[in-house]
Amino acid sequence: MSLTVRPVVGRRAKITALGTYVPPDVLTNQDLEKMVATSDQWIMERTGIRERHVLAKGMGLSDICTEAAKKCLAARCIGPEELEVIIVGTVTPDMMYPSTACLVQLKIGAPHVWGFDVSGGCSGFTYALLAGVKLVESGAHKMVLVCGADANTRMTDYTDRTTCVLFGDGGGAVLLEPAEEGEIGFIDYINEIDGAGGVSLYMPGGGSLNPSTHETVNKKMHYIHQDGPAVYKFAVRKMAEASAALLARNGITGADLGCFIPHQANKRIITATAERLGMAPDRVIINIEKYGNTSAGSIPLAMETAIEEGKLNKGDLVLLAAVGAGFSVGTVLLRWEI
Ligand SMILES: CC(C)(COP(=O)(O)OP(=O)(O)OC[C@H]1O[C@@H](n2cnc3c(N)ncnc32)[C@H](O)[C@@H]1OP(=O)(O)O)[C@@H](O)C(=O)NCCC(=O)NCCS
Repeated sequence: MSLTVRPVVGRRAKITALGTYVPPDVLTNQDLEKMVATSDQWIMERTGIRERHVLAKGMGLSDICTEAAKKCLAARCIGPEELEVIIVGTVTPDMMYPSTACLVQLKIGAPHVWGFDVSGGCSGFTYALLAGVKLVESGAHKMVLVCGADANTRMTDYTDRTTCVLFGDGGGAVLLEPAEEGEIGFIDYINEIDGAGGVSLYMPGGGSLNPSTHETVNKKMHYIHQDGPAVYKFAVRKMAEASAALLARNGITGADLGCFIPHQANKRIITATAERLGMAPDRVIINIEKYGNTSAGSIPLAMETAIEEGKLNKGDLVLLAAVGAGFSVGTVLLRWEI
């Protein structure tokens, strides 16, 4: 291995803590069999999903982020007063505005922060992470909380079997701080957006173009609209291409990675990407069976799974990769320093 660690202008940034949260209510494939013409067998074979968590009535995305943020701060043994910035990657905020970052600030009681939301579809966590990393690397901030979470079930049409089996709610938060002497932390990224893919995955209602009216609701414009096979083809190609390019330009291969933590959209997309990267299956983190597709929440949840399974350890090189609405592509290479 000849890892090329790119120099940064200021200091290096590292993840120092992780916290995750999924709401307790579970929707199983058997439950869905009673709602639409589907089967546990079809869902498992085509997606790898067995069950997903669902936010209870009266709760919002900010509640997922708040619970994850509290766990993250507890893991680092610090209070909310030490935070300087809150960044939230999501496409399912509580409301159009204020930002989820503002809602989380209030709920965790962080007195000295600013913050904002990042809309990157399923790449939302990697984009929010990058924004936070750059704030630390520039020297502007020393304590940045980055949340990635989504409440997709709130935007899902439970009469449409092609989308309703896929999505779940949940997410997580990481803390970013300057790396110590000898640590590497964040190494490199390759991101890309392709607006031509917008027609394949979008929610047309409720924005400034089609504000909510009885008509937009009757036409189901407030739900996720997706051309599944088009998203699938793009995801299989791009997740592998961007990941391979990121490893190559840093002088490493899949064999040098401690683990690969991909966005959990479809088990077949993940295994195809892992095969292309030459990754041994036991170092590829897959938890889609338990959570479904949680969009920006999936990578932090998969980090937690990797830790629980003993596959994410201090000093490991880690590749994160996501593809989602936009289309958006997000890949990150880092060294785990916890
Ligand atoms: C959605 C997805 C699972 C569909 O799998 P697929 O293998 O492409 O299946 P198709 O859409 O071609 O459908 C095959 C058949 O299954 C049927 N089908 C679709 N959903 C079904 C369901 N839940 N249960 C049973 N049958 C279903 C289709 O109607 C179709 O029937 P037909 O052949 O009679 O027309 C897959 O395309 C996918 O995962 N796409 C990416 C989605 C994604 O990741 N989105 C989030 C962005 S990150």
